[in-house]
Amino acid sequence: MKIDFVRGEGCSLFDAQGKEYLDFLGGWCTATTGWRDPEIAKAIAAQAAEGFYHTPYFASAKQEHLASLLLKHAPGKMSRVFRCCSGSEAVEFALRAARAASGKPIIVSIDGVYHGHTYGAAAVGNDCVKAMEPCPTGYIKLKMPKTAEEARGVVAQFELLLKERNDIGTFFSEPVWTNAGMFIPPAGFYEAIQEVCRKNGVLLVMDEVATGMGRLGKMYASSLWGLEPDIICLGKSFTGGFAAMGATIVTEHVFKNSRAISDYSTFGWLPQDLAATTRNVELLIERDLPKNAEEVGDYLLELLKPLEKLLKVKAVRGLGMAFSIELHLPIANMLAGLCFKNGLTMATADSSTLFFSPPLCMDRETAKRGAEILAKVLGTKLPEESA
Ligand SMILES: Cc1ncc(COP(=O)(O)O)c(C=O)c1O
Repeated sequence: MKIDFVRGEGCSLFDAQGKEYLDFLGGWCTATTGWRDPEIAKAIAAQAAEGFYHTPYFASAKQEHLASLLLKHAPGKMSRVFRCCSGSEAVEFALRAARAASGKPIIVSIDGVYHGHTYGAAAVGNDCVKAMEPCPTGYIKLKMPKTAEEARGVVAQFELLLKERNDIGTFFSEPVWTNAGMFIPPAGFYEAIQEVCRKNGVLLVMDEVATGMGRLGKMYASSLWGLEPDIICLGKSFTGGFAAMGATIVTEHVFKNSRAISDYSTFGWLPQDLAATTRNVELLIERDLPKNAEEVGDYLLELLKPLEKLLKVKAVRGLGMAFSIELHLPIANMLAGLCFKNGLTMATADSSTLFFSPPLCMDRETAKRGAEILAKVLGTKLPEESA
């Protein structure tokens, strides 16, 4: 998409010609406090003025402060945080730590999901394409369940696999399958998976890169399903789009049993990045942005649900501030282009699915403005009662 964005302000982006775009895409699950937040700018400037870097070989009180903030709000008994520069790296470390801590090579994940672009992340997801073969081995994919019946089937298949072989050490997934088109797991699915994991001594890893830090209405998306993972991966909203940072959070058990693998990262949590991300996480908490994401997200979903009556719309899905509109025809790219023309940023999950994830701070009025543009692009208007 050839648009040169040169400025951001709140929930809007501006191109080089000064045209305003309401930022419904929000950096693809990344925008939190809104663009040009003065608090973030102040934190980055203050750190830049300090003007130094030291290797992770030395302890850092500022890194420990952020790690303790993450741990304070984490579900279950998390005890350590590993630094890195992106969501893919957070996933990569999780895969290595899970293998080391479980002592078993096989990782079971869900088919059709994006977990990042690096070698292991591409393999646990669906992105190890032919051109980069040989792909890393040791991954088994289960079908993404979309109904209660399918969910029971997938859980049963997982149990059967565990009976048949003794080399499975990890179950790896996303709390909600965002990039696949915002598919919300059927009720009870993850609770059952967690139970099977616990019974069989299998580690549960949740990739919360796209869903964590308030995106789905909770600081940690695992809390939606009462999950207490052994490992959680963070990126995207963790930084609010103001830094290149990721994190992998682990239990003491995983920490103690994964000491053999390297965790050195020269630029992981670089001082300016750390300042921006720490302020972002503090503001998420101070401004209760997860709650805003839940409330405004519910409102936006309510506004958009009636679009399901249109012949071209198959389903409107949303949770917190992450949404998709599935269409009957492969016209998503064309519709996304129309959104841009009408001043709304938009993405596609595939050729027939629109995807968007507005900033967590968005208010109802702005959400309604975006919903009106979407309705117009789909050739209709929002119904009177909700317009
Ligand atoms: C669920 C999930 N995991 C991992 C990643 C990789 O994150 P990054 O692009 O920061 O490497 C993404 C990015 O889209 C993601 O959505």
